[in-house]
Formats: sequence, structure tokens, C-alpha cells
Amino acid sequence: MGSEHLKVLDDINLTVEKGEFLAILGSSGSGKSTLMSIIGCMDTFDCGEYILDQNQIQTMKDSQLTKIRNKEIGFIFQRYQLIPSYTVMQDVMIPLIIRGYTRRQAQPLCEQYLESVGLSDRSRHKPSELSGGQQQRVAIAHALIGSPNILLAGEPTGALDSSTGGEVLELFGQLNA
Ligand SMILES: Nc1ncnc2c1ncn2[C@@H]1O[C@H](COP(=O)(O)OP(=O)(O)OP(=O)(O)O)[C@@H](O)[C@H]1O
Ligand SMILES: [Mg+2]
Repeated sequence: MGSEHLKVLDDINLTVEKGEFLAILGSSGSGKSTLMSIIGCMDTFDCGEYILDQNQIQTMKDSQLTKIRNKEIGFIFQRYQLIPSYTVMQDVMIPLIIRGYTRRQAQPLCEQYLESVGLSDRSRHKPSELSGGQQQRVAIAHALIGSPNILLAGEPTGALDSSTGGEVLELFGQLNA
């Protein structure tokens, strides 16, 4: 912002192998969200390199990054980020629709993912009719339906009570296993 350059990430050297399950910890303002945005190909950086599955991310065009985000990366946010006017089913379907599936083609897979997060009976509901934990589970189904290789979560239990948060973490553990 402005003319002043702020160095946010300095000397970051991180390698993540397939199958790893890790947390990024640090004090407020230390750059966790910035790093997550870069890993998720949502933000760019001025120097250094980021290699994702043999792709040099810093050389890629916006259109290529859009594809990588859709295919390789699933995001889960602290505040769910569901679309208020969409039903659960419509929301979970979005990543497949972006890939060119018809609604009809997408529906069976959506049903399967909603079942896996225990929400089969809520598919016609809208976010305002769901509890926080249920909304987060919709967000998880949305993040997973495209079979991403990477699942990124930014404080995914921050808005949940401790037992619901525990369930979400348990689900992540199962997915990772
Ligand atoms: N768009 C921006 N423009 C300028 N500075 C920014 C911007 N976004 C973040 N920063 C600065 O970059 C630094 C890192 O911010 P970041 O949001 O990555 O921290 P964080 O570790 O996620 O913090 P928190 O735990 O509070 O969420 C902070 O000093 C912040 O003020
Ligand atoms: Mg943050």
C-alpha cells in the first residue's frame, strides 16, 4: 500500500510433502494469513519462488492460477463464506459447475459429499437456517468436492464452540488419514 514497502514474509523456507498435516502458528500480524494466501495462489509475491507440484507459481498467468485454485486447492475459512442466497446443495456444487459439470452431473457427487459431512438432510436449506458447525461442514464439503490435493484452512474452528471445533478437527484427521 502506498509508496512504503512492508516486508511481511522474510526468509520463509517451507517444504510440505504429500500427506502432511500441519499448522502455521505465530503472533498476530506475523504473516500467517499472507502466507496462506500465497500458498493458495490467491495473492502474489515480489521475490522468491513457490513450487507447487512442479509448477513455478511466480511465472504463471492469472488464468493458469485460476485453474490451479479450482483443481488443486480447497479453502476453508473461519467464517464459512457461504453464499447466503444459495442452498447447501447449490453451494457445494459450485466448484464442479466452474469445471463445466451440469447440475445433473454434479448432484450425485454433492449428495455423497454432504452425506460424508453428515448433512444429507439439510441440502435444501440456506446458510441462515444452519448452525455454525453445520455451515462449516457445508464449507468443508464445498472445499473437498473437487478432490483438491491441498486443503487450506484459516482458523477453521475459530467461530465454533470447542466441542464442534473438535469435531471439525477430527474430520480433518480422518480426511488426512
Ligand atoms: N493489504 C495489506 N496491505 C498492507 N499491509 C498489510 C496488508 N495485509 C496485511 N498487511 C500487514 O502484513 C502483516 C501480516 O499480516 P497477516 O494478516 O498476514 O498477519 P496474521 O499473522 O494473519 O495475523 P492475525 O493472527 O492477526 O490474523 C501485518 O503487519 C499487516 O499489517
Ligand atoms: Mg490472519
